[in-house]
Amino acid sequence: MALRALAARKSLAGSGFQRILGARGLQTFSLPDLPYDYGALEPAISGEIMQLHHQKHHQAYITNYNKDLEQLDAAIAKGDASAVVKLQSAIKFNGGGHVNHSIFWNNLSPVNEVGGEPPHSALGWAIDQSFGSFDALITKMNAEGAGLQGSGWVWLALDKELKKVVVETTANQDPLVTKGASLVPLLGIDVWEHAYYLQYKNVRPDYLKNIWKVINWKYACQEYEKESA
Ligand SMILES: [Fe+2]
Repeated sequence: MALRALAARKSLAGSGFQRILGARGLQTFSLPDLPYDYGALEPAISGEIMQLHHQKHHQAYITNYNKDLEQLDAAIAKGDASAVVKLQSAIKFNGGGHVNHSIFWNNLSPVNEVGGEPPHSALGWAIDQSFGSFDALITKMNAEGAGLQGSGWVWLALDKELKKVVVETTANQDPLVTKGASLVPLLGIDVWEHAYYLQYKNVRPDYLKNIWKVINWKYACQEYEKESA
């Protein structure tokens, strides 16, 4: 029996996730729509990259995550503790891939709508407090993103315990929460090769330099104000 959309589908902008119920009543996840066209981020990020990234890469994480959750449900039903533990790594990877990309799409916005303007807001003030200036933040995130070995993410995050914004990196598809329970993602930049290779080849620093032209600061500001209230 095919999956049926039984639960209310929430917009990406609203929740970051879309959820449907599967045939067995398990909650499964589906690919959220992008809030813009694939070609809308050109020339910073090509439409070809965006389409592949969304339709193939993000979809693959979701497909595999749903399979992992189905296996988890079966393992729990059987009381197979060993199988439950064995699934944790795949759940972190595939579920993290879904969580991270759902945030990432909201972190981007067409250049003609937002551009690379720094946030003139409470977040802008917090950035100045933590890093000295907006330019210093960009320099730090570019350096950490370029220096990250292998695949992963560089984040601007609110540390709710320290009550300040910080820069963190995560490896592979580890979600930010794996670095600390008090960390809330405001802006995540995907530095996997699939995010830039078709356009920038192996020159990750050029991708990082140009992505600032299509960062959706409005979203980051809203998240900061919501989470720091
Ligand atoms: Fe990605």
